[in-house]
Amino acid sequence: MATHLRSDGTLELGGVALESLTRGEEATPAYVYDVDAIRAEGRELIGAFEGQPHLVAYAVKANSAGPVVRALVEAGCGADVVSGAELMLALAAGVSPDKIVYSGVAKSDAELDLAVGSGPEGIGAVQIESAEEVERVAARARAAGRTCRVSLRVNPGVDADDLDTHAYITTGHDEAKFGVPLESIDAAVDAILARPELRLAGLASHVGSQLTSTDAYLVGARVLFDLAKAVRQKASLAFVDTGGGFGIDYGEGCPARPADFIRATRALQRERGLGDLALYCEPGRSMVAAHGVVLAKVLQRKVSSARRWLMIDAGMNDLMRPALYQAFHRVVPLRALSGPTSAWRVVGPVCESSDDFGVHTLPDDAALSHVALLDAGAYGYSMASRYNGRALPAEVFVSGGRVTGRTDRRPMSEWVEDRLAAGR
Ligand code: LLP
Repeated sequence: MATHLRSDGTLELGGVALESLTRGEEATPAYVYDVDAIRAEGRELIGAFEGQPHLVAYAVKANSAGPVVRALVEAGCGADVVSGAELMLALAAGVSPDKIVYSGVAKSDAELDLAVGSGPEGIGAVQIESAEEVERVAARARAAGRTCRVSLRVNPGVDADDLDTHAYITTGHDEAKFGVPLESIDAAVDAILARPELRLAGLASHVGSQLTSTDAYLVGARVLFDLAKAVRQKASLAFVDTGGGFGIDYGEGCPARPADFIRATRALQRERGLGDLALYCEPGRSMVAAHGVVLAKVLQRKVSSARRWLMIDAGMNDLMRPALYQAFHRVVPLRALSGPTSAWRVVGPVCESSDDFGVHTLPDDAALSHVALLDAGAYGYSMASRYNGRALPAEVFVSGGRVTGRTDRRPMSEWVEDRLAAGR
């Protein structure tokens, strides 16, 4: 939680009083980000490599706003992208092509062409996720008359039950669509080595997201490193990539900091005799989650004998994580209010029962006009939709203790025009 309660009882983020951002009819729902804290997060993680060759490839899917990506570029990060659009965005935000890795189980020819054709030598690595994909990437490289650096994304076969996270965000188990299964690695390596237009640069894995202990992260890293030792018998590798997944504290604790994950991984890497390889990682959430909030206005209260509902103007279309993963984001007032509190069920305006942010202890006082949903900087705006004809939320960027950029909500009429124009 990167918000701070001032001595006068008001909540601030990055030195800006959040209440000051709620004026005006269309001010909320709004995402607010502390850009300086995001840059510092990137720097702190890079510091944990202590000069070892590395790449912190920020997973752009977590938050693709220009000021956020640019801040992480300034910190020295590269990018992990999962679509052609994210690749274009990373390049435009100043990420050098060789600091980009491109993951994804099903890339289109147009997307592969973009990756193969970027920069003087293509991007850092196209992450190949199946033996079947090898020839597709090779064909695009041949068509462009270029060579393409690739890495193999390994599915380490880690049982979802062994990880302390939600099953929907685990990716490294046997039934997941992600990565090359262990039994196909040999064949995939041979297929890559047999194609002169491909250069095998590394091995990668990503076992899941919101891992709160370094032990869970190392379960996948151990498998990856053992495999890297074997693959090095026949191919020279430049890097091992242990993926993203560093957890944050949503209120239930996460003792490990991103740098702790890296320190533990580097120790294991050295222990396995792989210390000469560069270490890549792909953190998304841990770079941005704690440094963003959603501001919402209280629209309505409803009290029955059984329940108290607090209805706000932010819905599941603005912040999808609770509806999708039963995620819990703390909801807090923007100004401390004295007087009694109750357990309020906070819900949005969308016509779905799952448009529900859970039960929170909040003041009963009708003066409670606005709230903040905390730790919403990752997978918030980037997953927002226009369901129910709702406008995408506003975004406000804070740096140096002041607002340095904002995008307003689009008018209602824009959605109406867009839908009426469909098929025309
Ligand atoms: N690399 C790969 C290949 C990934 O699939 C992901 C996330 C990451 C890196 C970044 O992981 P992170 O450091 O952010 O945990 N929407 C979900 C999370 C989905 C994560 C998907 N893959 C959520 O809101 O919790």
